Amino acid sequence: MEIKNVAVLGSGTMGQGIAEVFAIYGYNVKMEDISEEILNKALKKIKESLVKLEQKGQLFGKTSDEVMSRISTFTTIEEAVKDADLVIEAVPENLDLKKKVFSEVEKFVRKETIIASNTSNIRITDIAKDLKYRDRVAGLHFFNPPVLMKLVEVIKAEETSDEVIDVLVDLVKKIGKYPLKVMKDTPGFVVNRINAPESLLFCLYIDNKVATPEEIDAYFKSQGLPMGPYELMDYVGIDIVYDSLEYFAKTLNPCYGKCNTIKELYNNKMLGMKTGKGFYDWSKGRPLIDV
Ligand code: 3HC
Repeated sequence: MEIKNVAVLGSGTMGQGIAEVFAIYGYNVKMEDISEEILNKALKKIKESLVKLEQKGQLFGKTSDEVMSRISTFTTIEEAVKDADLVIEAVPENLDLKKKVFSEVEKFVRKETIIASNTSNIRITDIAKDLKYRDRVAGLHFFNPPVLMKLVEVIKAEETSDEVIDVLVDLVKKIGKYPLKVMKDTPGFVVNRINAPESLLFCLYIDNKVATPEEIDAYFKSQGLPMGPYELMDYVGIDIVYDSLEYFAKTLNPCYGKCNTIKELYNNKMLGMKTGKGFYDWSKGRPLIDV
């Protein structure tokens, strides 16, 4: 099974980053979202990122314009997926929405098209539950920013075929990344499941006024990490952190729903970098945490 045409559904931070990666590696990419305006914003972000890579000679001799020409945009799922070999869903973290998108995709793709979800945490088996052909559905979980992060989780749902997993593992290597094969489909898979207790702990530190985000981030930066946990939560998006904790509260342990700070930030639309405010003020750029 050879993958040449990739459809990416959703053009938010992850969708646009995934589209960019595949275009850099020479795949034809169709990116879909609900409006031209959203798609144009995503194209602008991709172009900015590609220009940075081009200036550093990291586009394998291609220009940013050449890479951009591999990405086309669509406002209907039908047009985006009809000749795709692989569809990657990257819409918001909501099980019902993802199920709706998957059932729409199944109407228009060939029987052998692989359908993958970039969900951060939701069990792929639950997303695929009502589909006709569940053996070709898997998880393909990228990390933010996809263009720089080396790891991709390849998740086998209960009915995913071994052949599909082999194709995806091989594909992840072809786009210059490390495939982490997840053979049991549980909430948060491997990486986000490992990080879940820490995320809760960091949130509770702030609820209980143990220390400030700056102070705790300074500790992590002093250890050589590029970002501390609060800057990272702002960078990934408070909405993503909130959705993850809520999902873990439902599926793993109610204690994950106990963090007030995250709820407050989420309810006040302080979603981090994307809205200009979260744990930090991003209105003048990245927070300066001097150690
Ligand atoms: N495209 C192209 N270049 C980019 C870029 C992008 N999207 N983002 C950053 N860069 C470049 C910068 O321009 C800079 O280039 P320069 O060195 O030539 O000036 C270089 O990368 C380094 O960037 P910065 O100087 O801004 O900052 P850092 O050294 O801190 O690197 C980072 C940025 C790579 C994002 C780094 O901070 C990092 O690795 N942070 C942690 C990210 C992480 O852990 N992600 C996983 C989150 S969890 C997740 O995604 C799971 C999901 O399910 C929620």
